[in-house]
Amino acid sequence: MQLVLKSCTIRPWRLDDAESLAKHANNRKVWLGLRDLFPHPYTSDDAHKFLQKAMDAEPVTNFCIEVEGPATGVIDIYLGQDVHRHTATLGYWLGEDFWGRGIMTEAAAAFTDFCFENFPLRRISAEVFANNPASARVLEKAGFVFEGCLKNNVIKDGKLLDSLLYAKTK
Ligand SMILES: CC(C)(COP(=O)(O)OP(=O)(O)OC[C@H]1O[C@@H](n2cnc3c(N)ncnc32)[C@H](O)[C@@H]1OP(=O)(O)O)[C@@H](O)C(=O)NCCC(=O)NCCS
Repeated sequence: MQLVLKSCTIRPWRLDDAESLAKHANNRKVWLGLRDLFPHPYTSDDAHKFLQKAMDAEPVTNFCIEVEGPATGVIDIYLGQDVHRHTATLGYWLGEDFWGRGIMTEAAAAFTDFCFENFPLRRISAEVFANNPASARVLEKAGFVFEGCLKNNVIKDGKLLDSLLYAKTK
């Protein structure tokens, strides 16, 4: 799989992505938008463990975003199970140096199309912390529909936050 887009390329991970991945991931501003499962600080060891897991997964659901060279971000889909087996959840982050150029909007739109074509999905959703308007805007621009505000749904960085649910259906 390789999606060559105007602003970036989405491709499978390689072991030599570790250094660049750790460099961009080790950023509190990136961590603030993500689940606590995402380490902070983010070490080279974290990057190696992540890469091994992503590369061993079957099917592969986690991909590298490359902008002008080495790995600069992540986009992935978490496939639902049981009665939710036709659904998936989208996740993503990008190195701060590359924010504000429309990269994630293009990546999210193209990757969602790819996932609908390659997995038996009827719904792809994403949940954004309410204090993350950039990510909400990405989803809106990528064609996701706002479905509702989940009150007091998240505790991040010691703050109780609402989260915003977006989805695309087929
Ligand atoms: C969220 C994130 C992926 C956005 O990536 P990006 O490539 O910069 O996004 P884009 O450039 O495609 O679009 C960002 C949009 O948000 C808007 N935006 C940015 N900051 C904003 C703010 N504080 N308030 C309102 N809108 C804002 C931008 O203006 C742009 O919209 P526009 O094109 O209408 O002007 C990136 O900031 C990131 O990785 N953050 C940390 C991790 C994270 O939050 N991941 C998402 C978890 S749900």
